Amino acid sequence: MCCLAALLLTTGCQTATSLKKKSKKAAAVNTEPPHGENWNEAGSVSLPTSVGTRNSYSSVNVSLPFIALTFDDGPHPVNTPRLLDILKERNVKATFYVVATNAKAHPEIMRRIIAEGHEIGNHTVTHGDLTKMSNDQVRKELRDSHTAIVSTTGVAPRTMRPPYGAITSSQKSWIRNEFGYPAILWSVDPEDWKRPGSSVVASRLVSGAKPGGILLVHDIHAPTIDAMPSAIDQLLAKGLQFVTVTQLIAMENKG
Ligand code: NI
Repeated sequence: MCCLAALLLTTGCQTATSLKKKSKKAAAVNTEPPHGENWNEAGSVSLPTSVGTRNSYSSVNVSLPFIALTFDDGPHPVNTPRLLDILKERNVKATFYVVATNAKAHPEIMRRIIAEGHEIGNHTVTHGDLTKMSNDQVRKELRDSHTAIVSTTGVAPRTMRPPYGAITSSQKSWIRNEFGYPAILWSVDPEDWKRPGSSVVASRLVSGAKPGGILLVHDIHAPTIDAMPSAIDQLLAKGLQFVTVTQLIAMENKG
């Protein structure tokens, strides 16, 4: 009994030592985090790298007819997979600003979003108004959401969208510095959450979309998904092409 305890203790020690060695080795190859202290508890995943030059974007100045279609507040167990089928049929890539509670509830949908070439951004955990929170509360919202996205997909989000579009210029600045995220707003909002009907959502998207535009809809609403085949087909017919938010920002005309 005593020997067994000793053996277990030894084994435990050896495991701890070898883990320590491993983590030391991993630390040696890691580059310094780009912004302040290493807040990312996942540790082994890369921190977000810088995206674009501005603290926020509601559209991007581009020379070619590219737009970004963004879906907020999911993933939803029924509507998001149905949307992914529609996007896949048309080879359209989109960006999903997920709420972390939904991300944790539907990790398989999170992984499908990434596997099919889409992008995921940070839309906080509680979907509260950031302008009414302390910096520490906002920091926790973004960190916890970041961690939930990384732990479900293995991919770090590179942009954030403030719930309701509510964010101060000071918050944009320190969030950019600390997390590397630009705040992504939008140039077209068909107000699909007011449920105006699928054809209205589609026609508002089509009439509002211009090159460099960022289109906002919500994949938690079934009528929004119903609007997508027609909206996407009409936008493609207008000569517009779909890219993710970070791809659109990468096309930004500077100067
Ligand atoms: Ni939202």
